[in-house]
Amino acid sequence: MMIRFLFALTVFLGYNLILHAQNPNDLWLQQHPAKAVNVQYKSKSPLVLNAVKALKQYWQGKEGADISLKLVKSTAIKAEGYQISGNTISATTEKGLLYGAYAMLRAQISDENVAALVSNPSYENRILNHWDNLDGSVERGYAGKSIFWRGEGDLTVSKADLDRWKKYAEANASIGINGSVLNNVNASAKMLSAPVLQRVKAIAAVLRPYGIKTYLSVNFSSPTMLRDLKTADPLNADVIAWWHKKVAEIYKEIPDFGGFLVKANSEGQPGPQDFGRTHADGANMLADALKPYGGLVMWRAFVYSPSNEDRAKQAYQEFVPLDGKFRDNVIIQVKNGPIDFQPREPFSPLFGAMQHSSVMPEFQVTQEYLGHAYQVAFLAPMWEECLNSDTYQKGEGSTVAKVTDGTLFSQKHSAIAGVANTGLDSNWSGYTLGQANWYAFGRLAWDNQLKSDQIADEWLKLTFKQQAQPDLIQDWNKNFLQPVKNILLESREAVVNYSMPLGLHHIFAAHHHFGPGPWWAPKNARPDWTPPYYHQADSLGIGFDRTPSGSNATSQYHQPLADVFNNPDTCPEMYLLWFHHLPWTYQTKSGRSLWDELCFRYDKGLQQVRNFQKVWDKTSLYTSVEVYEETQAVLKRQTFDAQVYKDACLLYFQQFSKMPIPHELERPVFD
Ligand code: GCU
Repeated sequence: MMIRFLFALTVFLGYNLILHAQNPNDLWLQQHPAKAVNVQYKSKSPLVLNAVKALKQYWQGKEGADISLKLVKSTAIKAEGYQISGNTISATTEKGLLYGAYAMLRAQISDENVAALVSNPSYENRILNHWDNLDGSVERGYAGKSIFWRGEGDLTVSKADLDRWKKYAEANASIGINGSVLNNVNASAKMLSAPVLQRVKAIAAVLRPYGIKTYLSVNFSSPTMLRDLKTADPLNADVIAWWHKKVAEIYKEIPDFGGFLVKANSEGQPGPQDFGRTHADGANMLADALKPYGGLVMWRAFVYSPSNEDRAKQAYQEFVPLDGKFRDNVIIQVKNGPIDFQPREPFSPLFGAMQHSSVMPEFQVTQEYLGHAYQVAFLAPMWEECLNSDTYQKGEGSTVAKVTDGTLFSQKHSAIAGVANTGLDSNWSGYTLGQANWYAFGRLAWDNQLKSDQIADEWLKLTFKQQAQPDLIQDWNKNFLQPVKNILLESREAVVNYSMPLGLHHIFAAHHHFGPGPWWAPKNARPDWTPPYYHQADSLGIGFDRTPSGSNATSQYHQPLADVFNNPDTCPEMYLLWFHHLPWTYQTKSGRSLWDELCFRYDKGLQQVRNFQKVWDKTSLYTSVEVYEETQAVLKRQTFDAQVYKDACLLYFQQFSKMPIPHELERPVFD
């Protein structure tokens, strides 16, 4: 008896030690003992050698299997795509072999069926945008300091830097990401100085063997900010020469440099309009400098100014007239919605409207408006919703996915960007479940038709299944996968419910955007940065009228969408107050008054998160103690935050509605 007890104790302690000792995952890649595998390959290029290394390091398939990597000629396999048939991975490029190897490895754990498969990426360029500053801080970053920068005074490359960049590169390659913009869109001109470029070169050298191109965000006024010239006018000959020289300097160091990302004439950033020129003049000037080297310009359409015009309309107004005027190596980078990465927005009307320019979606992986790293929000459902939104621009079925990936409009280049959530934190993303968003972005960039359910399923299996104790594996699906997947899949909708139900938007706390702030309106603030500008609550009702009786932003959408949005009865309820100002007594689809429905939605969000806590509490046997407790802490905080949102917003709006909170919602916080 005693012996059995001691044995059980040893197993228990041993197991817990393993879990404790385990390094946090590098995305899904874990250091589990691999099985033996033989890999046949011909090319000895770094990309292929990395494919071989990955197979040997992570192989969980048949012990001693023979795998061959083959470069072939094929019309079915597009650039960077791959084919898996049996134990052979074929591709037309070396990058394809690398992606095929990772797909095979993922499938061993995630049960994805890759036995006979050709897989081609939806987008040619799948890029992470890092909003990292030279001083090491990260704008809207919640996962510690920058993995790339430590400060202008410290540009030396350490062993720790190289290790971290390599893990980052490997993780990205494992999900098909092939580009990284290394610095903030609010760009410092110093990024283009010679010492900084040396560090960029060092980073590029680590990313290259994993198929990742390096890009930089540039400040449009760099020539003047670096005190080389007196103007940054894009039509000035000296300015043009300056950029050509700078680009030549970059390519001399980094021959496969990807190009520039530019935030111009937006939120105080300089741009061509400062000189009476257009966005096309600015973008084309840079594009011409990059063209000989095959470089791209990703020119952001996130523009708005403090005018009387509805902010949601301004990007369309500025960019649609320029359609067709951009060089073919310019891609217009458009945020998913017309305002700013809110937990829910209708798609930006620019998608599908610019038919003679390359247009790429920009998603935000970091949770700026979705609780930072303090709240669980799995974002695949949000991106899936955007990608599958029908723009109707070429008839029914003209989804955002199809108008951006080259299916409906011939674009010289296609791309998609995600604002990264990575930092120096040991779990990379601020909280472990946040890695699912990095994973999801990569997977959707590769295949924009994937479903959130599949992505969540894959990530949970890849991340947690190998950690499960052997005797628990039988019930793993029932006791861990399904319940936790439900948490992930419901989490974004819960955030919407407790922070911006029914299409309310931009009512978050000022500056840091964490928590509620519908009241924030100091006298000297820019009106279009204050929440009352967006919710428009008054004694009559609430919501932003964007129909013809209001700002008429609906007119920027193709029919029949404009009509659907214009009529509150047909407008999807999730966008109701985005497009309409409605009386508090307006009857919603549930039969409740608008006020009561708002109360119910705020409360629903809170209850959803409370339920997530209860579900997660039961999973202790299935994760490491650290991840279990960390997630518990996140959910506890999230429940508290949801309660604050509900109470704060309802009390604030109640001063206008003057209606009571439905009695049944007045329950104690933790029932
Ligand atoms: C948001 C965000 C800023 C960021 C901007 C952008 O407004 O709050 O920090 O600079 O988006 O996308 O450029």
